[in-house]
Amino acid sequence: MTDNNDAVLVDSFGRKITYLRLSVTDRCNLRCFYCMPQADFNWMPQENVLRFEEITTLVRVLARLGIRKVRLTGGEPLVRNNVLKLIEDISRIAGIREICITTNGVVLPDMTDRLVTLGVRHINISLDTLKRDKFEEITGRDLFDRVWNGIEKCLEADIPCLKINFVMIRGRNHDEIADFAMLTRQLPVEVRFIEFMPIGKGSNWGEQFFYPSDKALEQIEKRAGKLVRKERTAFSGPAELYRFQDGRGSIGFISPLSHRFCNECNRLRITADGRLRLCLFSDIEMDLRQMLRTGINDEDLAAFFMDAVKTKPARYMARTQNLPSCNRRMSSIGG
Ligand code: GTP
Ligand code: 5AD
Ligand code: SF4
Repeated sequence: MTDNNDAVLVDSFGRKITYLRLSVTDRCNLRCFYCMPQADFNWMPQENVLRFEEITTLVRVLARLGIRKVRLTGGEPLVRNNVLKLIEDISRIAGIREICITTNGVVLPDMTDRLVTLGVRHINISLDTLKRDKFEEITGRDLFDRVWNGIEKCLEADIPCLKINFVMIRGRNHDEIADFAMLTRQLPVEVRFIEFMPIGKGSNWGEQFFYPSDKALEQIEKRAGKLVRKERTAFSGPAELYRFQDGRGSIGFISPLSHRFCNECNRLRITADGRLRLCLFSDIEMDLRQMLRTGINDEDLAAFFMDAVKTKPARYMARTQNLPSCNRRMSSIGG
């Protein structure tokens, strides 16, 4: 767990920034309809993607400024060439206490043991259905069994902090919410129900697909039994947590659209092509790659970050119909 007592990066609203979400590639081995456009898109050119030395320079400087938790995201982070070496390099940086991964789980069965050896203790796996045919419909690939096997391997390996991310899409998978919740009776996992957000032009978001957390909670209690609310702590993050009285795991609701959680935001994002983003929903980006490739030194980079966090917005700006949005596709921000 990270504390934030030694945070140096403090934004203009007093929020301490201790968590970095680092997208290491925009590539992915799935084609989830809500994340990637189905056609007419190009991967980032290879030369634009940050190299390992560039990433570790950024993390080293940020760790000196109080970043304690790094989450690797993508695209799919585990398809980045030699990603285990990168994880090892980051884990050696003084100050970094947690390396976390958000993955679609497809290549996880082959990597779980090595991730455990490298000290990865936090894995979030995206899974939006328990039905094989529905999985293919949502992701464009018939790979449900691999992902489920990845979850099983993580359970066998006793990954202490294992979460399943379920994006709620009305008409596509909202009928499976109670089934996912019930997994937490037997399994020591946190299942998180995430409100579908309008991110990226290709996200196919539409109001008709939106399923709010309140309805999900209602559905679970009706079909699967009463939930007990868990106390929020400084480490809760964006999820509101619940559990079944007799459950081994827990249930989280991430509700960016129905209940904003910006006042507790503790994070920065870096895209795979080296842009700093201060808010998921703000398209204002700062070009770190250019700074690195023109030879900035650590002190100047640290000074840049100290200034940059002062421009972090208080909360996301609603654009149309009171909804936040951003132009970059999800697969190049990493959520
Ligand atoms: P932990 O709290 O460390 O487990 O991580 P997390 O929940 O922040 O990470 P994960 O990558 O699993 O993201 C889960 C969902 O939360 C995804 O849909 C993210 O897009 C969303 N999310 C994460 N951080 C933010 C945020 O700062 N703002 C908003 N609006 N959504 C976020
Ligand atoms: N809204 C909410 N969550 C999303 N994710 C991807 N796209 C969206 C979206 N539009 C989730 C993925 C993954 C995490 C990084 O973000 O399923 O679990
Ligand atoms: Fe933070 Fe922006 Fe997400 Fe709000 S929307 S929690 S400010 S990243």
